[in-house]
Amino acid sequence: MKMTKMSRAIMPGMTNQRGILFGGQMMAWMDEVSGITAKRFTECEVTTVAVEQIKFLAPIPCGVFLDVCGEVVSVGNTSLKVQIEAWMDVSNGESEKVAEGLFVYVALDEHGKPRKVGKTL
Ligand SMILES: CC(C)(COP(=O)(O)OP(=O)(O)OC[C@H]1O[C@@H](n2cnc3c(N)ncnc32)[C@H](O)[C@@H]1OP(=O)(O)O)[C@@H](O)C(=O)NCCC(=O)NCCS
Repeated sequence: MKMTKMSRAIMPGMTNQRGILFGGQMMAWMDEVSGITAKRFTECEVTTVAVEQIKFLAPIPCGVFLDVCGEVVSVGNTSLKVQIEAWMDVSNGESEKVAEGLFVYVALDEHGKPRKVGKTL
């Protein structure tokens, strides 16, 4: 499996002083979803080695529903890249992309050392 999706309702405890989602909370969800995506794909332990990009594209108000989606987009020797996108529900059943990022993981052996991913897309 190369894709993972997590849904969240934005609550008051997740927002900052402006009443919009705290960016650190979004980063934690992106890291969680990308880690699950990488682990499901490799079927072994993984660790984050780099976050190559995070963009916050629009403010996320309290009360909306959010989907955080991860997909493996490239596979190296011991590393793999997961693209993350966050989408919020807007009116008329539409959704708007509010954040995106690119996370890099390394597959680990039982000694915590890099091992071959051994799979291609
Ligand atoms: C991840 C870790 C095991 C890699 O060990 P290492 O001996 O540096 O491994 P290598 O130099 O052989 O690199 C392994 C792979 O990661 C890639 N890589 C290393 N640093 C990278 C970076 N900054 N950005 C992108 N890719 C990177 C390498 O290109 C290589 O990929 P490939 O095998 O597909 O070609 C080690 O650096 C580590 O344990 N880091 C801490 C991880 C951690 O604690 N993460 C949680 C942070 S919250």
